Amino acid sequence: MFRIGNVEIKGKVVLAPMAGITSLAYRDFMKPFGVSLSVTEMVSDCGLIYENAKTLDYIKTSESERPVAIQLFGNDAETIIKAMKICEEKNKNFDIFDINLGCPVPKVTKAGSGSALLKNPAKLKDMFIKICKATTKPVTAKIRLGWSNDSINFMENIKALEEAGVAAIGIHARTTAQLYSGKPQYELLKDLREKMSVPLMVSGDIYTLDDAINALEITKADAVMVARGGVGNPQLVRQIDQYFKNGERLPNSSLEENLKYLVEFTDMLIAEKGEYRAMSILRGIAPKFLDGFPNMKKYKNLLAQSLSTRASLDRILSEIR
Ligand SMILES: Cc1cc2nc3c(=O)[nH]c(=O)nc-3n(C[C@H](O)[C@H](O)[C@H](O)COP(=O)(O)O)c2cc1C
Repeated sequence: MFRIGNVEIKGKVVLAPMAGITSLAYRDFMKPFGVSLSVTEMVSDCGLIYENAKTLDYIKTSESERPVAIQLFGNDAETIIKAMKICEEKNKNFDIFDINLGCPVPKVTKAGSGSALLKNPAKLKDMFIKICKATTKPVTAKIRLGWSNDSINFMENIKALEEAGVAAIGIHARTTAQLYSGKPQYELLKDLREKMSVPLMVSGDIYTLDDAINALEITKADAVMVARGGVGNPQLVRQIDQYFKNGERLPNSSLEENLKYLVEFTDMLIAEKGEYRAMSILRGIAPKFLDGFPNMKKYKNLLAQSLSTRASLDRILSEIR
């Protein structure tokens, strides 16, 4: 257990934010496997200010997923604070503000948002002093190691954020230049938590229980963030959560269990987004529920290419079974 400000986090699994994936339905689906903190996908501060309907949907959260953080991105304290006020007006049931300082996508960094903000720790500190003062909720930040291997500056940024008053920090153990590939560099984060005054959550290639044990052992972090490794493998969350609660090593889920999870998730996603949108999202996600099982290539392709309705999912699943 650890605390982010006044919010109790009762386990070691944080569901990492993933744009296009961690919608409300995904978070609600993953929660019962043992998620201790959920985070929304990144939400544009200006999108909220201009009351873009789709952006307003991103800040919806559910009671059952709490504690939950809303993640905002922007390049300026004033607009981020305006967006925070809108979140507080429109949603009375969330717990934490998380600010995205890790997004490497050029569209975002060219605007001075996401990981571009890590280039200047002194400026970052001024920005976060204002942001932390503007709310009674805890503010957290999600950062990267630095821009590239020639400019690793996470320690300066962590100090700046701590001094500004953040309540916890998440770090993706890659540089901006690495984007989402290449190995996370956990060795650079050795004993990092012992050098910090606030809780630490670590992210990067958490695909197995042993990946989580390893990342926590090296960094001494309070929690791991499960991102791509949990997509199509919700049992990973249960394995990590249970291991750290009672030392139990649970088996991987069976193919039959995973198909059941896929159907459960599909129905939740349809309820949230409607069948058409849900199926378009599922074409990217559904094949992952078959990962690691033998002779699934044909069905993975079918799910990726032919999913168009709920009935088409049933047809493909009956072929697999
Ligand atoms: C498709 C995708 C979307 C992501 N969107 C966000 C986001 O909105 N906010 C954020 O802080 N990180 C985002 N991330 C980064 C993840 O939270 C995580 O830090 C990263 O994927 C590393 O973990 P992994 O190697 O276990 O996937 C995203 C990652 C992926 C793959």
